[in-house]
Amino acid sequence: TDKYAVYGNPIKHSKSPQIHKLFAEQTGEHMVYRSHQVELGKFADAAQSFFDNGGKGLNITLPFKLDAYEFAGQLSDRARLAGAVNTLALQGDGKIYGDNTDGAGMVRDMQHNLGWQIEGKRILLLGAGGAVRGVIEPIAKQNPSLIVVANRTVGKAQKLAHDFAEYGDIRGCSYEALHGNQFDIIINGTSASLAGELPPLETNLLSDEACCYDMMYGAEPTPFMRWSAENMAWAVADGLGMLVEQAAESFCIWRGVRPKTREVIDAMRAQLE
Ligand code: ATR
Repeated sequence: TDKYAVYGNPIKHSKSPQIHKLFAEQTGEHMVYRSHQVELGKFADAAQSFFDNGGKGLNITLPFKLDAYEFAGQLSDRARLAGAVNTLALQGDGKIYGDNTDGAGMVRDMQHNLGWQIEGKRILLLGAGGAVRGVIEPIAKQNPSLIVVANRTVGKAQKLAHDFAEYGDIRGCSYEALHGNQFDIIINGTSASLAGELPPLETNLLSDEACCYDMMYGAEPTPFMRWSAENMAWAVADGLGMLVEQAAESFCIWRGVRPKTREVIDAMRAQLE
């Protein structure tokens, strides 16, 4: 039986073992998937011993995505652009391949599960940390008309816009500078929700059929989701679908089979309540 695991710190509340168990049952793949809390500063040792002991693949969550990036012997283009790795896979030649499935997972959730179109749309990304960096290229690939990155610390937004300039019309600015502009898709990639907070957003940022997406999720709507509903968003979603879709993408890298996600998203949703 092939061994997989998710490494993070903390890891107790990770839903990945359950998601991958459901995928394995559905597809008939023989595998086990566990969660493991890794001590800070010990990622490389832990990952090395996992693979030395026959492990086939790892998911990596906070705060080790950068360590995993450095650990990987080979990187996908999207992992290189994200500057972070959430999936490690042992290859036939013994090398460890590093990929990042977060952005693709979010885009797939939007297009496939939610039916949102990205092509030709004006996209606003809130935040300029690792979460936002990881989704820029996958979004840009869908040919939106414009991507704006807004952040409290403007310099970080400008740096992202600069780093991804070759992938489309991408601009970085402050929240105040959004004044007078409207967007078709607004994505919250800040960690503000964790503290029950909301970035300082004006009320007239939404176009007529604007869709709002929070990368966070929980039993209750996040402050950003409540703000979106109050401002008459056409559709509002949280990041639970993204969580399941990034897992499906990892599963597919490891096993070569794409699991059906709808039933798994529904099962995970039922547990939140
Ligand atoms: P991650 O890797 O999860 O993106 P991060 O790199 O710490 O985490 O980035 C967190 C993001 O949330 C940043 O864009 C941060 O803004 P700053 O760069 O100005 O710090 C943003 N953020 C966190 N709390 C916020 C709040 N209360 N209001 C607005 N933005 C917030």
